Amino acid sequence: MARPRVLSGIQPTADSFHLGNYLGAVRQWVTLQETHDAFYCVVDLHAITVPTEPAALRRRSRVAAAQLFAAGLDAERSTVFVQSHVREHTELAWILICLTGMGEAGRMTQFKDKSAKFGESAASVGLFTYPILQAADILLYQANAVPVGADQKQHLELTRDLGQRFNHRFGDTFTLPEPYILKEVEKITDLQDPTAKMSKSSSSPAGILDVLEQPGPLRKKIMRAVTDTGTEVLFDEENKPGISNLLRIQSALTATPIPELVARYEGQGYGTFKKDVAEAVLETFAPIRERTEKLLSDEKELDRLLAVGAERAATVARQTMAAVRDRVGFLPTL
Ligand code: TYM
Repeated sequence: MARPRVLSGIQPTADSFHLGNYLGAVRQWVTLQETHDAFYCVVDLHAITVPTEPAALRRRSRVAAAQLFAAGLDAERSTVFVQSHVREHTELAWILICLTGMGEAGRMTQFKDKSAKFGESAASVGLFTYPILQAADILLYQANAVPVGADQKQHLELTRDLGQRFNHRFGDTFTLPEPYILKEVEKITDLQDPTAKMSKSSSSPAGILDVLEQPGPLRKKIMRAVTDTGTEVLFDEENKPGISNLLRIQSALTATPIPELVARYEGQGYGTFKKDVAEAVLETFAPIRERTEKLLSDEKELDRLLAVGAERAATVARQTMAAVRDRVGFLPTL
């Protein structure tokens, strides 16, 4: 039997992934390539929904791809590609845009959050249609599951709605995908504001742990992470959101259940615990950083791997689009 298919994407909008991207998404991508037919893309078309410098976009797209391989994706087992290399994404997005209600798109909370930053009238129409392009990414590959963090739930619901609407109106065409979200790591929070999600657009870099950052600054940020009054290492999201976040991180990185960690640090205070969290983060990030640097030192080879991925992805995308065009009523090209 064919393996179930997964698809996910990550934006090349920063010079490094952060711990939230890694624990919430990329680590699962690596695991799933063992059991699934895996498609992962660097979503550069999504990146330009906010103003972006061409040179920065080029650099960050390569850095993103390199980090994916460095984190453990294997170009043989996974199809790793750049979204803009497969033209069918934009074509399907247009068709889905025409099936989406204005009100439906307007309810997307990520759009509301992001557009609030620019002022709603300054935000691009592309930003408004961002979730519909994401739906196209997923439906194009007939994905069964989509590994993401909790912030993507609403976009996946929209994806299912649009897939279902298309199937209903034009005949069965798309697989409806399920979210693949691991509860324990679905929302890693900011070290300085432990009730907010760790995010590239966060106001303070002190709250973000970048995968490609040097050990010194990483250690410092963890030691200075906002904790709570009191001294006990306890999991209590309500009263101790900072310590709870660090516990979640430590648990995920060392494969140790949280109650075991709580027992281990009993009576030891925050300092010892934070030092160990820092060690776990450094141990995870250092090899990824080294491999990323190595991959980036040979751009030609990296671009070649991405070209192989694009070709494999396009084979699937073309097949889906041939059916979509016909069902919508577009004339065949002779
Ligand atoms: P992006 O680049 O913003 O985020 C990439 C992935 O990282 C997850 N993530 C987190 N998980 C846990 N805790 C956090 N603090 C945290 N911050 C980010 C995100 O949930 C995401 O899984 N819209 C997508 C990109 C996309 C996509 C797709 C995803 C475009 N097309 C198709 C899946 C399928 C996004 O948020 O990227």
